Amino acid sequence: MPRHVAVIMDGNGRWAKERGKPRIFGHRAGADALERVLLACRKFGVEILTVYAFSTENWIRPADEVSGLMRLLLRFLKSKEKVLHENETRLRVTGRIGDFPSEVQAELRRVMDATAHHARGQFVIALSYGGRAEIADAAKQIARDAAAGRLDPEAVDEAAVASRLYLPDIPDPDLVIRTSGEMRLSNFLLWEASYAELHFTPVLWPDFGEAGFKEALDEYARRNRRFGASQ
Ligand code: IPE
Ligand code: IPE
Ligand code: MG
Repeated sequence: MPRHVAVIMDGNGRWAKERGKPRIFGHRAGADALERVLLACRKFGVEILTVYAFSTENWIRPADEVSGLMRLLLRFLKSKEKVLHENETRLRVTGRIGDFPSEVQAELRRVMDATAHHARGQFVIALSYGGRAEIADAAKQIARDAAAGRLDPEAVDEAAVASRLYLPDIPDPDLVIRTSGEMRLSNFLLWEASYAELHFTPVLWPDFGEAGFKEALDEYARRNRRFGASQ
């Protein structure tokens, strides 16, 4: 069983288009899929779930789609707090949370604080997240530490970078799932997913649920993770 599963929740817009509805309709159905997958993690014993909800690149989308996503996020946080408590799950955020409207930031902080004591599982939402931005932010911190004399440039190694990522205490994802048939990472967890197993499914995110998640877990169980070693 993977300890940490990360998901690129893709295909909401196509799902809505197939139904002749606006994209936000797909995003709303996507929020329901997210709850199903979170519950599947608790059921199957996956401790950490990270979901890619909004990338650093998604800011270029039309303003009405972006503001619709912000409203949906606010509603999701308010309505799903109960589910987090019931499942003893702690909410975390990875990404440049400061990019978000102050109301969204405040709600994220409130739910993170309210669930900080839960230890059964962690639910990480990637918001205004970009793998390159995260590595660049770590590099900036390394430069600051070196300039201040707190870090010897010769001592910079992989651990020095990893410890300056957004959530250094979260272990690397074991499995990355992407829905909607696209086979790319789209700037997700570039450092952390170095040795993750990848699972792609054509199912659009709003149609994804426990069965599709179980399929990904079963496939993961059949993989042979070598980490560079010989058979
Ligand atoms: C993923 O669905 C959700 C976000 C990126 C916010 P999309 O909105 O990318 O849906 P498609 O890929 O256009 O179908
Ligand atoms: C990746 O999906 C980002 C999220 C799921 C939040 P996109 O739909 O933005 O990715 P591309 O543009 O197809 O690569
Ligand atoms: Mg997409």
